[in-house]
Amino acid sequence: MRKKITFLGSGNVGSTAAMRLAELDLADIVLVGGVHEGMSAGKALDMDEASPLEKHHSRISGYTNRYTDTEGSDIIVISAGVARRPGMSRDDLLFTNRDIVHSLVKKVVPGSPDAILILVTNPLDAMCHVALEASGFPRNRVIGMAGVLDSARFATFISRELNVSVENVCAFVLGGHGDTMVPLPRYTCVAGIPVTELLGQERLDAIMERTRNGGSEIVSLLKVGSAYYAPACAVKEMCEAILKDKKKIMPCSAYLTGEYGIRDLFVGVPVKLGSDGIEDIIEVSLTGEEHEALERSAESVRTLVRIIRGMDGKKPDSPAGSGPRPRAQTRVKRIRDEVIGQGTCIPK
Ligand code: 2OP
Repeated sequence: MRKKITFLGSGNVGSTAAMRLAELDLADIVLVGGVHEGMSAGKALDMDEASPLEKHHSRISGYTNRYTDTEGSDIIVISAGVARRPGMSRDDLLFTNRDIVHSLVKKVVPGSPDAILILVTNPLDAMCHVALEASGFPRNRVIGMAGVLDSARFATFISRELNVSVENVCAFVLGGHGDTMVPLPRYTCVAGIPVTELLGQERLDAIMERTRNGGSEIVSLLKVGSAYYAPACAVKEMCEAILKDKKKIMPCSAYLTGEYGIRDLFVGVPVKLGSDGIEDIIEVSLTGEEHEALERSAESVRTLVRIIRGMDGKKPDSPAGSGPRPRAQTRVKRIRDEVIGQGTCIPK
């Protein structure tokens, strides 16, 4: 019985990831969504017509708003939503994308009750919460794609700085997928050599800062849309680890229930990925400074989740597809100001 991967969102990330996974010949592919009628079907047909050249047997189909063909999916990748524009933070997408993710999860979960959900939509960690609550799935089957992307960027910058193969670099990033993410040089190595042995603090700080801003750097260059090649490859890596039951340790956004001293929150940590999704959460020891940075990052996620859950006393109110209404934006800014006022740094 062939496996099935559904992509909710056939924009750049979803369609690029779909093509990469089709080439691996691991599963049939269903694309759903698209900014206009026919986009998913057109992209799927185009990919399907490449199969004689790529010599894979993945059947690829696409639909605009029909969900029946997603039934029985093993993995559902959710990248649908609004991408940020130059000058926006991922948090600015909160209300619009919350409504989109919530409604899509409700549509597909009944037909795929045993699926593993992989979230891509931003703000990523908060969207994982939305998917966990909307699906009712156990936490091992709701996974955020972020750390694989962020650590790939960290590794790329290190390899370019040292002029060594990217295959030599094993980079480690913790925390939320935002400006407060925590690249960890102490757990990053080049051919087994700690990167702190090879790079001075000044260069390391610069590379970590560029990693934190990796997404924004590309958004500002593209002007329209956000990164998609590296995010798509990160999705491919995660799906492959699950479908091949690799039990591969990768940084993913996972729902913590006390690990790292964090409870009831999605945060990027090293997890073991296999056929059951997150099969283990790996806890590493952190210095006081590293733990404080992780807690700050967790707090920035907690702030967004608080807003989504309306814990500021008002139900979030924005119809799907629209930007946050002024009142909601004011609310996000007010909470953000309050949190900053408490000395907690949250993404700008
Ligand atoms: C990024 O970091 C899109 O959040 C994604 O590029």
